[in-house]
Amino acid sequence: MFNHRILATLLTIVVGISFISPAAAEGASAEMLSNTCLGCHGPGGISAGPATPTISGMSELYIIAAMLAYKYDNDEDKVDAIIEADAELEDVEFFARTSTVMNRISKGYSEAEIKTIAKHFADLPFEGANQNADAGQAKAGAALHETHCEKCHEDGGSSAEDDAGVLAGQWVPYLEYTMADFASGDRDMPKKMKKQMEEAHAASGDEAVRDLIQFYANQK
Ligand code: HEC
Ligand code: HEC
Repeated sequence: MFNHRILATLLTIVVGISFISPAAAEGASAEMLSNTCLGCHGPGGISAGPATPTISGMSELYIIAAMLAYKYDNDEDKVDAIIEADAELEDVEFFARTSTVMNRISKGYSEAEIKTIAKHFADLPFEGANQNADAGQAKAGAALHETHCEKCHEDGGSSAEDDAGVLAGQWVPYLEYTMADFASGDRDMPKKMKKQMEEAHAASGDEAVRDLIQFYANQK
């Protein structure tokens, strides 16, 4: 699976690289700053898949938290110091993240630019990926989601308001890599999410993750 991930990411980069412009100048507009992101995250921030998440319609705080974790290579003390020094970042929560490319990309942006970019994408609409899902598995996943995930990923995982990303409509490969990173401990999750993941696994075994992913994939 790891090799697939590298391949998928490389494909993304080959497509993405042609869009990458030189480091944006101080005071550049939100649009100019965000253009660099579209090569990989898709026109309008809607990903053409499969290993890259759609970032439009996510909350500002979620995008900022992700960019800071990438930029500072998961140095929690450093990120917490930045959050503490800026009243606007008060509600940003640090979680360590795995990264193939974002660690390098995020270093090209100042905190002020990251805030500008985050607002830009948060204001754009989310659009679910056009993909097929297994109806039976999605139904089983819906029940698991309701019991274990809905509390923090509201409206079937489609709400951005809980600052926990947007799950409904993301590409299956991205969700698979992400769930594998959580399971291996390479990516941090909130303690309560970890507990719910374990309970979902206890209830439905290895099929729990598959069914949950099909449930998210089934929503457009
Ligand atoms: C070369 C391709 C590429 C470019 C350019 C790129 N990204 Fe990413 N982005 C990715 C990939 C792949 C991931 C998944 C994490 C990883 O592997 O690094 C990701 C993950 C993210 C995430 C986490 C989303 C989630 O669901 O948790 C955010 C936020 C993000 N990128 C924002 C941006 C912004 C903002 C820009 C422009 C400043 C940008 N990206 C430019 C490929 C790219
Ligand atoms: C206690 C609240 C909570 C619960 C319960 C919870 N989550 Fe999360 N989840 C979060 C938060 C907060 C994040 C963002 C972490 C970060 O920024 O890296 C997240 C992130 C995620 C992501 C990554 C999104 C992305 O775009 O990369 C996935 C996938 C996910 N959760 C799936 C689940 C599933 C499946 C369940 C139920 C089994 C669940 N979560 C239960 C709070 C929760």
